[in-house]
Amino acid sequence: MATEELVRIDNLKKHFKISNGIFRKNTVVKAVDGLNFSVYKGETLGIVGESGCGKSTTGRLLMKLLEATEGKMYFEGEDVSTWDKQKLKARRRDFQMIFQDPYASLNPRMIVEDIIEEPLKTTDMSKEERKARVKQLLDDVGIPQDYRTRYPHEFSGGQRQRIGIARALALKPKFIVADEPVAALDVSIQAQIINLLVDLQEEYDFTYLFIAHDLSVVQYISDRVGVMYLGKMVELSESDDLYENPLHPYTQALLSSVPVPDIHHVKDRIPLEGEIPSPDNPPSGCPFHPRCPIAKQHCKEEVPSFREITEGHYVACHEVK
Ligand SMILES: Nc1ncnc2c1ncn2[C@@H]1O[C@H](COP(=O)(O)OP(=O)(O)OP(=O)(O)O)[C@@H](O)[C@H]1O
Ligand SMILES: [Mg+2]
Repeated sequence: MATEELVRIDNLKKHFKISNGIFRKNTVVKAVDGLNFSVYKGETLGIVGESGCGKSTTGRLLMKLLEATEGKMYFEGEDVSTWDKQKLKARRRDFQMIFQDPYASLNPRMIVEDIIEEPLKTTDMSKEERKARVKQLLDDVGIPQDYRTRYPHEFSGGQRQRIGIARALALKPKFIVADEPVAALDVSIQAQIINLLVDLQEEYDFTYLFIAHDLSVVQYISDRVGVMYLGKMVELSESDDLYENPLHPYTQALLSSVPVPDIHHVKDRIPLEGEIPSPDNPPSGCPFHPRCPIAKQHCKEEVPSFREITEGHYVACHEVK
């Protein structure tokens, strides 16, 4: 597997200050709380975890749509925080995001060809070149050419997502964050869009950070998978290794709730009990300890470090030896 770093983040944090009510003034929501990982050129890195664990915030930080509270991000080895406005503007085309809800991300008053052409207007491409690129993109995402003068509301959910994908690809980005790109679609359409996303990566040669709730989706398309819990990464490894040999009790619990087609693979179910604690008041020590079936006293007191256990397999758990 290629291991040339495209992106690296170092102790990345995003804490939101919110004031809610008289008694809980200035609460701090630790949406992302100290992430360390790399994304390698050409790979698909899947990110999974329950609602509210900080997946979208991570994606937005990586896209520079949010300013980090702390920590560093490197893109092709360059410290992104040293980029001035002009440099950031110039490099923005390398970063693109595909959203969960394509309807919300497409301008309802624009026709499809204008939606896809819009990002191209920031380049020095001629009008003819832009038209040719839009035509190619429509073909690549499977939207018939004669639909190009239609408005977003005239399309189905799956088609709208295809349009969102075409727009994201328009500038031939190096890095795409896909934030639950099929979660809002009918199950029957999901596989088509996933297959399209996989095919486009081969054709356009970019790198994915692919966020999903559904572990089975991520397993199918990811080279590596990271599991998040309460703003932290608790396990990260090559996809096959994670599914065959999950080390963190949280990953084990998530996996045991995924239906497995092969009967010989059925593991004992590990129930995931209790509510996810709030990121404005995370538990002491290991954030997973209140729900963990194997937690010991020290898990309540000490934050586990994110350690490499076998080559490329990282875990944050005191009990993994
Ligand atoms: N702009 C914001 N202001 C305050 N809190 C925020 C903001 N954005 C996110 N949060 C909080 O940060 C935490 C992480 O949110 P995030 O959207 O990153 O989670 P997620 O893993 O993407 O969840 P989901 O699976 O539901 O999409 C949540 O508690 C959320 O309420
Ligand atoms: Mg999200």
